[in-house]
Amino acid sequence: MDFNLSEEHLAVQEAASDFAQNHLLPGVLERDNEQKFDKELLRQMGELGFLGMMVSPEYGGGGMDTLSYVIAMEEISKIDASAGVIMSVNNSLVCWGLECFGTEEQKQKYLTKLASGEMIGAFCLSEPEAGSDATSQHTTAEDKGDYYLLNGTKNWITSGETSNVCLVMAQTNPELKHKGINVFIVEKGLDGFVVGKKEDKMGIRASDTHTLMFTDVKVPRENRIGEEGFGFKFAMSTLNGGRIGIAAQALGIAAGAFEISLKYSKERQTFGKPISEHQAIQFKLSEMATKVEAARLLVYKAARLKDEGKDYIQASAMAKLYASETAMWVTTEAVQIHGGYGYVKEYHVERLMRDAKITQIYEGTSEIQKLVIARELLK
Ligand code: CAA
Repeated sequence: MDFNLSEEHLAVQEAASDFAQNHLLPGVLERDNEQKFDKELLRQMGELGFLGMMVSPEYGGGGMDTLSYVIAMEEISKIDASAGVIMSVNNSLVCWGLECFGTEEQKQKYLTKLASGEMIGAFCLSEPEAGSDATSQHTTAEDKGDYYLLNGTKNWITSGETSNVCLVMAQTNPELKHKGINVFIVEKGLDGFVVGKKEDKMGIRASDTHTLMFTDVKVPRENRIGEEGFGFKFAMSTLNGGRIGIAAQALGIAAGAFEISLKYSKERQTFGKPISEHQAIQFKLSEMATKVEAARLLVYKAARLKDEGKDYIQASAMAKLYASETAMWVTTEAVQIHGGYGYVKEYHVERLMRDAKITQIYEGTSEIQKLVIARELLK
């Protein structure tokens, strides 16, 4: 497999890095502290094409490959992992799902706006009692002919308030178990659709995460994606690609923490020399760099397989598992290298450590990734 980056890939990398350094870095600490993502930054991300990178140009997207997307995700998440998750959900769960499985009308109405950032999307699978056990959907969608009547609660929804449209999974035929689940495009503002409590999170604090409540929400029939009962397949298929995005976010967090630590180790003096000249620190840097590189290769491999139209279920789970474990380990070492400075906010590594934790949890915990990998191995 060829991991050399083309001129186009390098240009994407440079554009994403420039945007992250010049626009995301100033204010990243304040946004983390205030738990707010700047609407103007989101608008700029849309304008620069970061919110619909893989969407076909006919629907207003960048028409890029998955490799371009993960390269951009890495650069953006190095600086601001909250921007990374908003970007990941919009690109790989919402836009990708709509483009692959939506009707032409749905694409014209929603995808064109989601690809440009005019609209932001949310992906609503998790519930108070359905996290890892995603088939156990309690939200119901009763078939009423022209519309479905939606009732239930969704938890931990990224961009819960910021989003304009939500892809909502709900159970229509409980006797069919997961084959009775449907997925709907649900617009904000419908009667009975309430945005609930904002979560006060450990990390990715600038992205808004909410509970969403649905009480007798009438969802037009034409807003169902795919055939009756396609909802769970839709969720699993989009998550296979989404996990590559989160793996790239985790890679960015790890690479960011490593780069900050490398620089700091050359500046900080102890016992009469830069700490980079102490073997204890050199060993940490070596191991950090090796794990970051291994994570990058797994992420690129999963992206390449997806771009080549090959099976990428196992590769995406491996990339997410390894990159997220690496992010947690590398950021913890980064704090250790910084000592007391690492434990305070202005050096960024404590934020990256807090941000890393969620990558082991959302879009399938590390334990779920192991389950997915084992099932593929034992097929
Ligand atoms: N790709 C495609 N299809 C898949 C699949 C995959 N990775 N995993 C399962 N399926 C299919 C199965 O083939 C099966 O289909 P058939 O009945 O047609 O054969 C169906 O889905 C049910 O699968 P299982 O029988 O294996 O169901 P299970 O309950 O034993 O396991 C699971 C399912 C893999 C554990 C699944 O529930 C899962 O992935 N859980 C994790 C959920 C998750 O990732 N949530 C993330 C929330 S979204 C989020 O975090 C977004 C955000 O805001 C950041």
